[in-house]
Amino acid sequence: MSMDWTPGSWRTKPIEQVPAYPDPLALAETEKRLSTFPPLVFAGEARKLMRALGEVAEGRAFLLQGGDCAESFAEHGADNIRDFFRAFLQMAVVLTFAASSPVVKVGRIAGQFAKPRSNPDETRDGQTLPSYRGDIINGIEFDEASRIPNPERQEMAYRQSAATLNLLRAFAQGGYANLENVHTWMLGFLADSPQAARYRQLADRISETMHFMRAIGINAESHPSLRETDFFTSHEALLLGYEEALTRVDSTSGDWYATSGHMIWIGDRTRQENNAHVEFCRGIRNPIGLKCGPSLEPDGLIRLIDKLNPDNIPGRLTLIARFGHEKVEAHLPKLIRAVQKEGRKVVWSCDPMHGNTITLNGYKTRPFDRILAEVQSFFDVHHAEGTHAGGIHVEMTGKDVTECTGGTRAVSAEDLSDRYHTHCDPRLNATQALELAFLVAELLKKDRESVPARKAVNF
Ligand code: TRP
Ligand code: MN
Repeated sequence: MSMDWTPGSWRTKPIEQVPAYPDPLALAETEKRLSTFPPLVFAGEARKLMRALGEVAEGRAFLLQGGDCAESFAEHGADNIRDFFRAFLQMAVVLTFAASSPVVKVGRIAGQFAKPRSNPDETRDGQTLPSYRGDIINGIEFDEASRIPNPERQEMAYRQSAATLNLLRAFAQGGYANLENVHTWMLGFLADSPQAARYRQLADRISETMHFMRAIGINAESHPSLRETDFFTSHEALLLGYEEALTRVDSTSGDWYATSGHMIWIGDRTRQENNAHVEFCRGIRNPIGLKCGPSLEPDGLIRLIDKLNPDNIPGRLTLIARFGHEKVEAHLPKLIRAVQKEGRKVVWSCDPMHGNTITLNGYKTRPFDRILAEVQSFFDVHHAEGTHAGGIHVEMTGKDVTECTGGTRAVSAEDLSDRYHTHCDPRLNATQALELAFLVAELLKKDRESVPARKAVNF
C-alpha cells in the first residue's frame, strides 16, 4: 500500500453520494464515538475470507453472495434473519453439490444500510424533500423530519449489525447450519414446488450421498464440518465516515482493516478512480468488491485494479458484473480479455439484479426470467473465454414477498402490491432464490463436465 494512505485520506478527494448532514458537529461526535466501539469483525476472519475467495479466483470454488438490497430498522428481528439464513444455506448446498467444490458464503447483511440514489431529492404532490438514502442516514417516511440525515442512525445501524452478526454466528456454528437440517428444508421446498421434477434428481443424489456418509460413520456428531459453516458479511462501503470510524489496525499484522464487515464493495456510481471511495478501499486489507456496469471500459478497469489490487493477490478483488440481461455480451468479454491479457487475478461474480429493474404498475420490479437470462449469458461468456464464472450476487430474502415477477409459483404484475416490503430494490423471495440456485446448479454442472476433476481443497 502506498505510504500516503490513512483511514481519512478519502476526505481530500472528490466524492459522490454524500448526505447533507445539517449539523456537522453532531456528525463528528458520532464518528468519534463509533471509533471507540468494538470492531464487528476481526482481521483474521477477513483474511480467511480472502483465502477462500482466492480459491474462487483460481477456479476451485464458487461465491454465493446475497441478502437484502437494504436492511432496515423496521425489519430487524430474529425471524427475518433466520428465514434469510435458511434460504441462503439451501442455495449453498445445491451449489456445493452441483459445483463439486466449496461455496464461499457471504451475506449482504449486518451492515448493508446505505443506498446510493440517482436523485438527491424526491418530489411528491409538489413537495420536495431529500431522497431516502438508507436507514443509516435518514428515514423512508416522506416527511421533513424523517428525511433529514441524522447521525444518531449510524449508532443504531452499528448496534443492529452487531446483534444480527451475533445471531448469524450462533446459527453458523451452533448447529442450525447442520447439513442434514438444510437438506430436510430443501426436501420440504421440493414437496410443494410445481417444478419439483426438474430438481428432484439433484435432491435425490444429495439424499443418497448423505445416507452413504451416515452409513460409513461420517455424521454431524463425528464431523463438525457437517454441522458448521463459515458465513461472512458484506455491504457497500458508501458512508465513508462510518467506515473510517470502524477502520482499525490489526495488531498481529500492523495492517488496516475495515471492521464493519468482512468484505465491502464499491458501487457502480462511486467507482471513479480518483475519488474518495476508491481511495478509502485501496488502503484497507479486506477483500473488496467492485461493481462493474455498462459504462466501465477495459482501460478504466485495469487502472482500478492497479489501485485496488497492486500486488495481484487472488481473492482481494471481486468484480461484480451488473450489465442487464441483454448487455452482457456487449460488455463482459472485453473486460475479461483485458484482465486475462494483463494477468490479473480476480473473482468474477454476476449480479443479475441491478441491470434488470423495470417499473410495473408503479412498482419497481425485476422479471425472474431476465435475472436468469443474465446469469446464463454470464456463464456462456465465461465458457467462451475459458474463464471461471466464479459467483453470483443476489438481492433476496427468506420471506414470501412479491417483489420480483415470475418464478414457477408465478408472481404477476397484479400480485406485486400483495407483499411488497423492500426498502429499496425488489428482492427474490425464498422460492425464487432457491429456484435460481437450482438453475445455476445446472450451469455449474455443465461447467464441471468440461474441466478436469477438481482436487479437494481446504481454505
Ligand atoms: N462445512 C461445509 C460447508 O460449509 C458443509 C456444510 C455444513 C454446509 N452446513 C452447511 C454447506 C450448510 C452448505 C450449507 O460447506
Ligand atoms: Mn439494490
